[in-house]
Amino acid sequence: MNLIMLAPPGAGKGTHCSWLTQETGVAHISSGDLLRAESRTGSDLGRRLAEYTGRGDLVPDDLVFALLIPAVVAAVRDTGGYLLDGFPRTVAQARRLMEIGIERDLVTDAVLYLSAPDAVLVERLLDRASREGRADDRPEVIRHRLAVFAEDTAPVVGYYRDRGVLIEVDADRPVDAIRTDVRQRLTDSGLLALDTA
Ligand code: AP5
Repeated sequence: MNLIMLAPPGAGKGTHCSWLTQETGVAHISSGDLLRAESRTGSDLGRRLAEYTGRGDLVPDDLVFALLIPAVVAAVRDTGGYLLDGFPRTVAQARRLMEIGIERDLVTDAVLYLSAPDAVLVERLLDRASREGRADDRPEVIRHRLAVFAEDTAPVVGYYRDRGVLIEVDADRPVDAIRTDVRQRLTDSGLLALDTA
């Protein structure tokens, strides 16, 4: 299974990749987690990345691809696929991923698009902030992340819809209801085996 999880901040990309990777064995690759891990090393690169993520701005494509593509190649080699969380985030990234996918036989099977109203997303992220204190879960940065999604990432939805691989899911529901729906939709698409669903 080669799957992309496309969604605004707080819609549940990480939440649903977490059970999907457990149930399928396919590697979960979160661009945000990879960027935060590099930032925590304190390297020059990590400090540069933290400036972008701390503001809620997108990290430049070359830095993102340098981190992500080796992880995607290793995931396909070692686990037979990928669950991409938070990448691609622009139409330019989606186009480049498509080209790399064709060159290296890593083409995406489906794109799950989780959506929920901004007010719900803000509430979830503020709730997480009170528990985990992620650097970009501050009110003004959350607002900026949502604006960046609307401006730069929302067009990616149409890009994949036009290619017939988009699966749209209402994420303004309890986690279990979304999970049941996602399982069913992936089973209907032939991407999950019936005994897994
Ligand atoms: P990233 O780490 O991808 O953050 P994000 O997109 O803002 O997403 P989140 O992790 O906040 O939310 P999520 O959708 O995963 O939801 P989650 O399951 O965690 O990116 C961070 C930064 O890195 C970006 O701003 C950018 O700077 C940079 N970056 C990353 N990728 C990049 C790229 N490709 N190009 C350039 N820059 C890039 O859930 C959130 C909370 O809600 C949790 O507490 C969860 O328990 C709760 N929750 C989830 N679902 C539900 C539900 N149904 N009901 C109630 N609560 C729920």
